[in-house]
Amino acid sequence: MAAAMMNLSSSIQSGLFSSLKPSSFFNFKTTHFKNRFFLPQSHFIFSKRSMLCTCSSNNSNFQTGAKAEPYVVTTPLYYVNAPPHMGSAYTTIAADAIARFQRLLGKRVIFVTGTDEHGEKIATAAAAQGSSPSEHCDVISQAYKMLWKDLNIAYDKFIRTTEPKHEAIVKEFYSRVLANDDIYRDDYEGLYCVNCEEYKDEKELLENNCCPTHLKPCVHRREDNYFFALSKYQKSLEETLAKNPDFVQPSYRLNEVQSWIKSGLRDFSISRASVDWGIPVPNDNKQTIYVWFDALLGYLSALLEENEQPSLQSAVSSGWPVSLHLIGKDILRFHAVYWPAMLMSAGLTLPKMVFGHGFLTKDGMKMGKSLGNTIEPNELVHKFGPDAVRYFFLREVEFGKDGDYSEERFINIVNAHLANTIGNLLNRTLGLLKKNCQSTLVVDSTIAAEEQDFKDTVEKLVEQAHIHYKNLSLSSACEAVLEIGNAGNLYMDKHQPWSLFKQGGAATEAAAKDLVIILEAMRIIAIALSPVTPSLCRRIYAQLGYSDDQFNNLNWSETKWGGLKGGQVMAQPKPVFTRIEQIKETENGGEAAKKVVKKKEKKPQVQGVVEA
Ligand code: MSP
Repeated sequence: MAAAMMNLSSSIQSGLFSSLKPSSFFNFKTTHFKNRFFLPQSHFIFSKRSMLCTCSSNNSNFQTGAKAEPYVVTTPLYYVNAPPHMGSAYTTIAADAIARFQRLLGKRVIFVTGTDEHGEKIATAAAAQGSSPSEHCDVISQAYKMLWKDLNIAYDKFIRTTEPKHEAIVKEFYSRVLANDDIYRDDYEGLYCVNCEEYKDEKELLENNCCPTHLKPCVHRREDNYFFALSKYQKSLEETLAKNPDFVQPSYRLNEVQSWIKSGLRDFSISRASVDWGIPVPNDNKQTIYVWFDALLGYLSALLEENEQPSLQSAVSSGWPVSLHLIGKDILRFHAVYWPAMLMSAGLTLPKMVFGHGFLTKDGMKMGKSLGNTIEPNELVHKFGPDAVRYFFLREVEFGKDGDYSEERFINIVNAHLANTIGNLLNRTLGLLKKNCQSTLVVDSTIAAEEQDFKDTVEKLVEQAHIHYKNLSLSSACEAVLEIGNAGNLYMDKHQPWSLFKQGGAATEAAAKDLVIILEAMRIIAIALSPVTPSLCRRIYAQLGYSDDQFNNLNWSETKWGGLKGGQVMAQPKPVFTRIEQIKETENGGEAAKKVVKKKEKKPQVQGVVEA
């Protein structure tokens, strides 16, 4: 399977675009300006709906019932033109950390992810493989699921846009928008970027009409399509954003969205006559629905319960509206302009927030499948484990901004923070506890911390982490938790419990209390960092003598100082995070090459480590 995936990946990257069926259905006179051909009233299935819509769930046409409002977080639905790369994994890791944090707060979380499987880009990729589109989608969609498993991604819903329930939702939604008088037929001519699946304005293109994101020339297209009357929603969108400035995050992206809207919204085509691989337009099976109009609805169809009759009503009552759409900044216009207007047209509540994060770059260029400058996430995970990968990208890249990857930086950060600051501190403390206290805590952590500033420091830092997670400042949240580890190391160095144990009497008592204090800090770190490094934190928790069940049922309120009690027995010390070693090797006739390995786990050398 792995070999098959590798072949697939490389041949996809070198694949050629196949020729596509030309548009032939209608031969309108080609023009840049649209002629409106409204469909007859008999096509209308629904009566017109109120256009009033805000970001508050109270205005929904459907109410979600008495159940506690869930926290719904989504990733984009990933194109299956090629297997996932680190850029796609980045959004999902961030969404998983946010979902885990919200679960810790006791929220009912619905974490939605999935794959975007229709359209020209996917059909072309499948043809290049010599596969049918549906076989191709099965393979790549499975590759996403496998990677999410390896990265410890605990999603609740995985939607594939080729699922029948999704098609039903798209058709129902289309019919609603049609009934609201917002779809009309027109001919169109323009420059199309297949990789973006979007018509582009000439003024935004580079030399030779190249797309600025994909650096490939856009192709000239001319066809008749159905259009969505986006321009009708200009005023409502302006008002919505003015009333809900938090709708677009980070705040510095709001200006961009507002200026797009201010510069004038143009209706966009929502069907393709030249693409077979898609959902047929209701009442016109010679056209398929535009892949973006189709994919955005995955956020609704994903919410449907298993074996439930698919309908917008039931999707909405299963958790709509979304609390947070997490996306990359390249698809902000679709999520912050097109999508809200589509929802307004269908009379549905708007999502509460759209967060556009930055790009992972390589040599300053957006890492991507189309440019072929990607980092293989499978390789990183298999080499370094999921915690290292998750931690590095969330800690190192300020959420919202771009960030560059370098292996050297990766190794340095992960070793310094996870192996040394946290792993080593835990290991040497447990080693001392085993040697001097039979691995048993002598007092409650509350008593141990009396008259110590350390407890206040930890409480402040954990509160900061809480605020940062809430504000989606994931890097700062990691930093605050790491500061607890740094404070713990300083405390150890200052108090030197290993020397106190040698003195006996009151000094031994003080040393035993010091160990309780450090282990309590470790307990708090294990909870507060668990959204980012869940398996590492599970191992820390197990070292503190807790069961898996106890870890699974943690709540953020347990980050309060005082969880560890006198008499609690800790586990045998065992390293929780192995350092990554860079071994310099001589290969290829003397040319130096670096090999990166996870160091073999050794039995803890209590004395040596402690006294070093
Ligand atoms: N299929 C659409 C989304 C439809 S959502 C209803 C799509 N797919 S994508 O696979 O091209 O991109 C998915 C996400 O991955 C986007 O948010 C995009 O920004 C993100 N990334 C792709 N490359 C990236 C980086 N190099 N860095 C960070 N994220 C990037 O767009």
